[in-house]
Amino acid sequence: MTAPPKTYHVKSFGCQMNVYDGERMAELLGANGMTPAPDSTSADLVVLNTCHIREKAADRAYSDVGRLRRKDGSRPLIALAGCVAQAEGEEAKRRTKMIDMVVGPQAYHRLPEMVAAAAAGSRPVDTDMPAISKFDVLPARRRSGPSAFLTVQEGCDKFCTYCVVPYTRGAEVSRPAADIVAEANALATGGAREITLLGQNVNAWSDGSAGLDHLIRAIARIDGIERIRYMTSHPTDMTDALIAAHAEIPQLMPYLHLPVQAGSDRILQAMNRSHSAASYLHTIEKVRAARPDIAISGDFIVGFPGETENDFAATLEIVDGVRYAAAYSFKYSPRPGTPAATMPDQVPAEVMDERLQRLQARLAEHSLAFNRATVGKATTILIDRKGRLPGQMIGKTPWLQSVFVETDASIGDMIDVVTTTAHPNSLGGVLATTKAA
Ligand code: SAH
Ligand code: SF4
Ligand code: F3S
Repeated sequence: MTAPPKTYHVKSFGCQMNVYDGERMAELLGANGMTPAPDSTSADLVVLNTCHIREKAADRAYSDVGRLRRKDGSRPLIALAGCVAQAEGEEAKRRTKMIDMVVGPQAYHRLPEMVAAAAAGSRPVDTDMPAISKFDVLPARRRSGPSAFLTVQEGCDKFCTYCVVPYTRGAEVSRPAADIVAEANALATGGAREITLLGQNVNAWSDGSAGLDHLIRAIARIDGIERIRYMTSHPTDMTDALIAAHAEIPQLMPYLHLPVQAGSDRILQAMNRSHSAASYLHTIEKVRAARPDIAISGDFIVGFPGETENDFAATLEIVDGVRYAAAYSFKYSPRPGTPAATMPDQVPAEVMDERLQRLQARLAEHSLAFNRATVGKATTILIDRKGRLPGQMIGKTPWLQSVFVETDASIGDMIDVVTTTAHPNSLGGVLATTKAA
């Protein structure tokens, strides 16, 4: 038995959806009378909202649990949440006594009862995927930063052979349009100027007839929402209507995250990606025809089982063909329970390391080239954080580039700047009214 916790701290790892879930868990605990603590050392309850996507991310969850023990030997109540919680369930409690409750991504609306039960001495585990959606019982959104996430679709039916997400997030489910628009309205009222629609396959969102483009149009009508983004999209769900939306909706930002993973058709097939290199490139072509200035970003995996030097060369080829503005690249990590984990010809670590280095060097060349091409141009940034230097703020361009600028504007302001310098992951800029030095 411990006293019921009064303060909480939520720590999220992994993808944007976990960030979103973390915010909603915090709001839920707040609605149940708890107050936020500034960090995990001072909190009565710590929620670790974990990621299972690669081995390193999953292992980190347990080392983070261990680190919650304080110098005087005490520790907070600990909730393991997120995708590791879903994947491990009861097993998590066996691995360490420090975990007081385990709650999966579809069950976190039950967190307050679980916290009460854990404080009373039991160690509840809830990895249900209940028929009643958590969204129907979570408290309404209130305050928001200038840039908000909004989950519209969750889960995945694609079953790429390397990936745990279909198991940790469950089957594809789209939230009803009316609920999403209501949440977007609440976020706008709470201060959001930009909304990023989230889903594991966000472009598979559907209300039975209308697709994501309709939803984007509905959100574009909300007062105060000036920028709309969406991620992550799957190449095979990139409909012509959604592509057309990029030409037609001014609030829809010129940025598309469209992971390809690999450039070799043999590997794409072994990954169960349901697209080829050529069909992917064709989709990119159509997107660029609709919105010529669009920034494309992608995800890549090197060292998938059986990947040869020739296969890898095809990945570099697709990188050169698309000229990504930004990209995330990973070494293949075998995940328990996925088909690829037991495929023959697992690629040695040194080979993966070397390929990842070559891939990242190539990707950096393209992102630097993309950023260089925007130098000297005027654009509008939405300020989202403070820079390290006094008077310095950082904001995002429509193409999601971070611009460092000296200004007395505040977080949430949209200001006109001229970019002056380019780096692979950021730009320097000056206020548009100031003469560049
Ligand atoms: N469609 C998803 C993808 C989630 S995983 C989404 O909503 O974001 C994000 C990226 O992690 C994938 O695109 C893939 O590049 C990478 N990834 C997934 N499983 C992996 C594994 N087993 N090893 C290495 N990288 C992996
Ligand atoms: Fe994972 Fe593939 Fe689904 Fe993306 S589409 S979440 S990579 S299984
Ligand atoms: Fe990680 Fe789960 Fe997101 S495994 S990437 S937190 S969906």
